[in-house]
Amino acid sequence: MKIPEPRGPITSTLFRALTCTPGSDDGAAAVEDLRLLATPKAYKDIIGDDDVQLALFCLYELHYSGLEGVSDEWEWEPGLIHLRRLMERPFEAALRAAAASAAGEINVPPAAELTSDAVADILFGLAASDTGPSVSRFVAKKATLDQLQEFLIHKSIYQLKEADPHTWAIPRLTGRPKAALVEIQADEYGGGRPERMHSALFARTMRGLDMDDQYGAYVDAVPAVSLAAVNMMSLFGLNRRLRGAITGHLALYEMTSSQPNRLYGNGFRRHGFDAEVTRYFDEHVEADAVHEQIAGRDLAGGLVEAEPGLLADVLFGATAAMAIDGRMSTHLLASWENGVTSLRAAVPAAA
Ligand SMILES: [Fe+2]
Ligand SMILES: [Fe+2]
Repeated sequence: MKIPEPRGPITSTLFRALTCTPGSDDGAAAVEDLRLLATPKAYKDIIGDDDVQLALFCLYELHYSGLEGVSDEWEWEPGLIHLRRLMERPFEAALRAAAASAAGEINVPPAAELTSDAVADILFGLAASDTGPSVSRFVAKKATLDQLQEFLIHKSIYQLKEADPHTWAIPRLTGRPKAALVEIQADEYGGGRPERMHSALFARTMRGLDMDDQYGAYVDAVPAVSLAAVNMMSLFGLNRRLRGAITGHLALYEMTSSQPNRLYGNGFRRHGFDAEVTRYFDEHVEADAVHEQIAGRDLAGGLVEAEPGLLADVLFGATAAMAIDGRMSTHLLASWENGVTSLRAAVPAAA
């Protein structure tokens, strides 16, 4: 993807660094400027902070497909890792706080009864307790064509690299949970057929609405919370100590996917789009009814059975997913009910 427009002092300094050659005088000067900027500080709302979330998104992107015109050498530059960690710590703390208030009362059985089925039951209970605002019902019944496009823009930030953040966890697991994750990911990646990859199906949906399906094409348009939802997955996936959280996150995603995807598909059918456009959603109605069982019992359940101490982080990952996606849904619906766009009103000019 291209380097986005900066959204504040961190991103403007970061993007200046990234366009330099690592190790050059200019590059070293920019990294030094970043170091001065990146002091630990208290954020009022780091999940909604455009500058921080865009900086994290681009720093993580160095570990995925990279940024256009940016040297691959930046990926492990200590100054950038330092900056990332300074933002990750308060971001994780904010996610834990948001998850704690989203979770409600969770009944956890005594350690001796923590079987994989018991863990799956807790997660299914959590997923069922999610009675937040429903974007899928709005999309099915009311969304205009413009709102369908907005919906795809928000989703495109993740869905065009769908499954990648959870793949980081594969080498961090062993045995039953590892086999379960690989089984799910094999489906997400098309079972050997690139055109069936879920990211490719999503790109096809975007093309069906005459939208740009290039990865990252709409990053400038989305608010911080849409970036935070993806950054949360990258944080969980790239930190081995958070392997419980990434499995809980995936389990919750799989458990809350089948029914909403049916409704999303209905929304696009209501506007006259054919199976070519709705295939992405139709595929998830079927696949995730299977994935939720594997993710709940074998992946998250199997992991906790092997390492009971990870239960708290499995639940953290699941409830953080509920909390952040709930916040995104609230934003989308509040905008649409008021007849305004859910995207950023204006993209600031380059600094
Ligand atoms: Fe998928
Ligand atoms: Fe899935």
